[in-house]
Formats: sequence, C-alpha cells, structure tokens
Amino acid sequence: MEHTEVVKPETLDDLIKTLHHIFESDNINVEEVQDIMESYESKPQEWMKYAKFDQYRYTRNLVDSGNGKFNLMILCWGEGHGSSIHDHTDSHCFMKLLQGQLKETLFSWPDSKAHGDMTQKSQRVLQENRVAYINDSLGLHRVENVSHTECAVSLHLYSPPFESCQTFDQRTGHKNTVKMTFWSKYGERTPFETTISQENN
Ligand SMILES: [Fe+2]
Repeated sequence: MEHTEVVKPETLDDLIKTLHHIFESDNINVEEVQDIMESYESKPQEWMKYAKFDQYRYTRNLVDSGNGKFNLMILCWGEGHGSSIHDHTDSHCFMKLLQGQLKETLFSWPDSKAHGDMTQKSQRVLQENRVAYINDSLGLHRVENVSHTECAVSLHLYSPPFESCQTFDQRTGHKNTVKMTFWSKYGERTPFETTISQENN
C-alpha cells in the first residue's frame, strides 16, 4: 500500500483546495483531515474577511460549501461567548483554533430515564492551530471562550453539511431541535435574520 503524503497547506486557499480533493472520496479518514487542518498555520490576513463578530453572541460565517460534501465555516467568539450543549446530526465535526483558546466540555448523551444534571465526561482547552474532532458516537459538547479579555476564532468543518442540530439543557437533559443560520456567507453579511435563534454546532 502506498502511503499518501500529507502536503502542508501554506495558505487557507491551499487548505480549502486540499479539503475539496480529500472529500471527493466517500471514505473519509478522520486522522488525515485532522492532520491536514492542523498543518495549516493560521495567518489572520487570510481569514480576516470572514471573521465577523457580534457583541452578544458568537457568529457562524460560511467560508466554503465544499461542493456539497462539507461546510467550512469560521466561528467568532467574543469574550465570554459560548455554545449550548449540542449534537452533530450524524456528521463529522472538525474544529481548528485560528486565534485564542476555546474550552471544550464533553458530555454523555442523556439517558431517557435519567433525570437531573447531564454527565460531564471531560474538559480541555484547545490551543491555537490545534484541531479537535467530535461526532455523535463520542458524545455531545459545549464550546466556550472563557476569556474576559481575548476573543477567539475557530475554523469548523462539518461533513456531510447539516442545517439543524439538537441542543440540550444541562440541568434536565431535555433537548430541542434548532435550525442554524449564518451571520455571513463568503465574507458578506447574510441579510435579514429575524427571530430564528442562531445556534451553534
Ligand atoms: Fe460542536
């Protein structure tokens, strides 16, 4: 068997090209995607145009729709911004830190018979350029920028793409289905978001 060499992407555009190539195949090698995303060294001037912040909560900004195979997006986290506990709709989820740090807390799926607090499995702080991976078989998570002084920016790849996920109440384990929206697409602010709650993944 020939071993495919991972060529380090020098720019965000390079990374996107490589991802398009990898995702042409129907068999995704999680480690390969993780390695290629990790090997890109974040350069703010390359992703700045997608990094749009909101005062009140984190934003989701579409960078590339992966020829229908994946969605690549940049999430912008202001100080103290965090997601709810959520699942990933049977998709792969890769999350790379472009700037700052994010705390990831992993939870078990709530038992339908159990009541009370959801079980916390682990917690870690993701550092710049590192890539985290999750899917529904690994559990649920919450992502937070716990810093009071620094914002954070992360690059997320979801495959296959999805538009809604489930969020969970930590105290009860009760879940809700939420539709997710983009704050911007390809660097342009998405017009007229009304009352639809913007949820994370
Ligand atoms: Fe997530």
